[in-house]
This record gives sequence, structure tokens and C-alpha cells, in this order.
Amino acid sequence: MCGIIGYTGNRSALPLLLGGLAALEYRGYDSAGVALQSDQLRIIKRRGRLAELCKALECEENLEAARCGIGHTRWATHGEPADRNAHPHGTERLALVHNGIIENYSEIGDFLKRKGYRFSSETDTEMAALLIDWFYLQSGDPKKAIFAATDMLRGSYALGVVFAAEKERIYAIRRDNPLIVAVTEAASFIASDIPALLAYTKEYYRPDDGILAVLSPGNAVFCRSDGSPVSLSTERVDFDVTAAQKGGWAHFMLKEIHEEPVALGRTVSHYLGVDGLPDFKNPLLDRNFFARFERVQILGCGTAMHAGLIGRHILENLARLPTSVEIASEFRYRDPLLSKKDLVILLSQSGETADTLAALRYAKKEGIYTLAIVNVVGSSVAREADAVLYTPAGPEIAVASTKAYSVQCALLYLLAVYFGLCRGTVTPFLAKELCRSLGKQAPESVRAILAQNDRICHCAARLQSAEHLFYIGRGVDYALCTEGSLKLKEISYIHSEAYAAGELKHGTISLIEKGTPVVAMMTEKKLAEKMISAIREVRARGAFVLLIVSAEIAEQYQIPYDERLLLPPVQEVLAPFPGVVALQLLAYHVAALKGLDVDKPRNLAKSVTVE
Ligand code: G6P
Repeated sequence: MCGIIGYTGNRSALPLLLGGLAALEYRGYDSAGVALQSDQLRIIKRRGRLAELCKALECEENLEAARCGIGHTRWATHGEPADRNAHPHGTERLALVHNGIIENYSEIGDFLKRKGYRFSSETDTEMAALLIDWFYLQSGDPKKAIFAATDMLRGSYALGVVFAAEKERIYAIRRDNPLIVAVTEAASFIASDIPALLAYTKEYYRPDDGILAVLSPGNAVFCRSDGSPVSLSTERVDFDVTAAQKGGWAHFMLKEIHEEPVALGRTVSHYLGVDGLPDFKNPLLDRNFFARFERVQILGCGTAMHAGLIGRHILENLARLPTSVEIASEFRYRDPLLSKKDLVILLSQSGETADTLAALRYAKKEGIYTLAIVNVVGSSVAREADAVLYTPAGPEIAVASTKAYSVQCALLYLLAVYFGLCRGTVTPFLAKELCRSLGKQAPESVRAILAQNDRICHCAARLQSAEHLFYIGRGVDYALCTEGSLKLKEISYIHSEAYAAGELKHGTISLIEKGTPVVAMMTEKKLAEKMISAIREVRARGAFVLLIVSAEIAEQYQIPYDERLLLPPVQEVLAPFPGVVALQLLAYHVAALKGLDVDKPRNLAKSVTVE
């Protein structure tokens, strides 16, 4: 949600800023802008994709000489996407980029009006910029001005600021929003996320909330509001620039779906001990630890929450452990009943989702143990949770999450096996067997479904002109349907609903008419006959049924359908892995056939850092 980049060094800043913005565009893409320390401090910004900004920059002169600047790619919160609302904001004295929301912006606006300021945008960000400007006019000291302003700001932010009077310097500070700082021999950078910096360095600093970073070429110092210096150690990523590039793939989403077998294999082998049983690589997370919990509460948003639904199924089935799953944004506002014997599991690819972070803080405040399952190392959720298990999926760039979902499911599976061992519902022999097949069969079955890409594309062609679509399933298949339906909505803009097949007849079946497409998911044998009844009911009313069914069930039952996709043979408990990949590819092909911008769907952003 909004991408920030900043560069100060011995090279021309503009190409570096634009390269960084291209790598961050997945965070928001309704406008983009840069501020450059040229003959004077110059701000150029445009509504629309980065390409629009590039066009505008072609008409400008003397920008190449600038060796310091900041840039921003926006996901609108306050004020429509428009040139005037794009970042950077500022005055002739300073320019500022912002990621987050300033909640008390109207209060600050009143304060600034009284000081004589007039506004040129509808954004909360402009208030932050002008507030710093006002304090800067009082003290003439950038640091004092930034701290005085941030003292007044409520809400969340990552800010990058340059001052006209300091041609080589960038200031950056954050609260509840991601911001990293990197230093190379001759340059220094700020960025919202690592992919923007991977071409230059793999090492970076991640300052805590409220720590001001002051960057000059090849150097960064950090200090608190009382002026005291802070010494930080660098963190390092273990993937390189190619992991965050599209390679030869048409879209990041397609690339990331094809990375799932490897990501699954990596996740399982990382969390298996030499004895073939789960090992969470943290001495605290041993059997005694898990034995103390009597209930699990899984929290997340979007795709992560859907992975939680699969997790609930496995935890309850394998470990007989009562588990509930809730949307993180709802959790803390309903005054949930929690007990010290609950384990709260937070799922998040980015580890920066504001709602998930808020839910985590709520649980911690209530004294409940929190365990985060997160993909981005060092992210806020990872740092604040009592314990963290990282999913080694590598960077996920496409806005629609795919491989992160699968590896979250795999980790929840390993947790369920371990809980089962602790609770005596799974024998060590069975546990080893389950882990072995998770590490082998799950990736293999995903490879086998990827090999059916053309067949899936054919099915997608039959759905691409639909206006509404239903996904139906029961049990774990219903959980899969929620994710399949979200994927389709996110990237193809086709309205779809996931329905528990048994619930259709209680109302929603009234929407089925001749030709209504229904994707029916069937991987659970015990529910096969029930699903067949539901399929007959919708077909009797004219529905066009795309059946996605496991090979074994298809062999055993006569199931009516209009199109059919056979899932590769795999142990039933592992069927969600190829199952979800079939649904991801289906959504992908529908969107691609419609010629849509698959990786950057309208109105969305990858990392939603506002509530
Ligand atoms: C946004 C994205 C979704 C994602 C959700 C949770 O809404 O558009 O694709 O599932 O955030 O993100 P997280 O990083 O917490 O997994």
C-alpha cells in the first residue's frame, strides 16, 4: 500500500528512483511521483501508472544532474487518484512521501490554516508535509521539525523527507508501516520493501518505530527524538534480484504459481527434524509448549484468512483441537472471549497488514500467546508476535497471493501434526508418514496439476464471459472455494461467490438460471454423494458445471458435469494443494484471456498497511 523509495549517492538519482518504483509498483499504482534535488527542489507527479510519470519526465530538463531524491507510488486513501493528490507533497523548502494514514489530518489541517497555510490536495499526507514545514520554519532544524511534527501525528506512517537546503540528505521515520534503509559504498537508500533495493544490496537496516534515519551518500545514522544515537545491525535477505523479477513469465502471478512445488518442498524440509517429525527450529516451541493450549484462534485477512480455514480443518481433524478462524479486522472489535489456554496464530504473507497487526496487538494486550506465520522476514507482525515461523516462499510480487497461501497451509499442516503428537491423536509413526507425504506428494501433485495448464486454460475460456459465478464445495472443499472465488474476483472482476454446497438450497439457489457457471469442487470422499446431489440440483436449473474432482472420486462415482478437471491422485488430506493450484490457474487464465492487468488489479494493493 504505497511504495516509497529514496536515493542519495554519486549517480543520477532519477533512473534509480524509477527502477525502485517499478519494483514497488505492486504496492499501489494509481499515481506516482518524484522529488529531485536539482538546481532547486523539483516535484514531478502524475495520476496513473508509472509509465505516465515517465512520459511527464521526458518533458522536463536538467533532472539527470540530481543525485538525491525520493519517489512514491500511490494507493489512494484520502483524495481520488489525481496529479494534485499524488506524492511527493511539500513546499519550496521540502518534499515528503508517505505510506499510511494520518488519522488526525483534519485537526492538523485546522492548526495549519490558523498558521496561514493553504492546501493544494485532499490528502492527509499534505498535512504531514506542511506540519513539518511549519516546525522547520520555527527551528530551521530538519530533525527537530520532523520529531515535533511526528509527535503531533496520529495514525500510521512511513515518511521520506528531503529539504531544499540539504542537497544530499534524506530523512526517514516510520510508525506501524514498513521502511528499510540500505547503505552501499557510495550511496544510501530508503525503501518500503526489499525488492526495490535488491539490484544494489541484500543488506539493510529496519529502524524501529520513532527512530529517525538520516541518510547521506554512503552513510546512515539513526537517532531518537531526544537526539541520542541508535546503533542498528543490518539484516540480510537470502534471495537475489532474479527472485523478484518476472523472468520469462507473462506475469508474476503465473511465475509464482509455478514456484509452488519448490516452495512447498522447501517449507516442509525446513521444518522437519532429522527424525522426520516437525521441528520448528525454536527451542521454545517444544512439546511442552504445544501441550499447554486447548484452543487455537487463527487470524488473517484475505487469502491468509482462507489458508486459516484449511488450517482449521486439519487442526481439528488431525489434532482434535478446537480451532476458530476469524477475519483480523473483525476480531478485536467484538470483544472476543479469550483464555490463557488459547494460542492465537496470525497468518500474513507481508507481515505488514494493519488489521492483522492490530489483532496481534489486541491478543498480546490480553496476555494471549501469539504465533505468527509470515513470509517477509523482519516484518512488523513477525517482530511483534511472541514467536514466528517464517514461510520460505521467496518474494511474492503479484497482488493476488498464490504461493504464500500454499506454504501457509503446509506450515499449518505441520503444526497440526505436531499438536496431534502432543495430544496423542497422532502416533509418531503416522506423524512421520504424514510429514513424508506432505514433503513429497504435495509438491508432486502440484506439479501434475501445473502440467494440465492447457486444459485449465480451456475451462477458463468457457467462463471468461460470465458476469456471475458460483464456487460450491463442502468441508475442506468449501474452504478451497472461498480462495478460488477471491482469486477470480481480485483479478478478473467477475462477481463470484463461494457457497457451502449444502446451504445453496436455503436461498442462493434462486440465483441459478440457464447458463449460470458453477465451479464444483470435490476432493472429500465422505461428502461425495452430498455434493453429487448439489450438482444435480444446480444442473436441473440450467447451471453450467465445471467439476474439479479428485481422480479417485471420479472413478468411483457417476458425477454429472459440463466440463471436468481431474485432480491428480494424492492422499485425500493433501488434496487442497493441487486443488488450490487448479483454482489459481483458472482465475489466472480467465483474467489473462480477458486481457486484464493480472499482476496489478484495479483498486487493490499487495500490502494493506491501513485499517
Ligand atoms: C491484501 C491483498 C490480499 C491479501 C491480504 C492479506 O488485501 O490484496 O491478496 O491476501 O492483503 O495480506 P497479507 O500480507 O497479510 O497476507
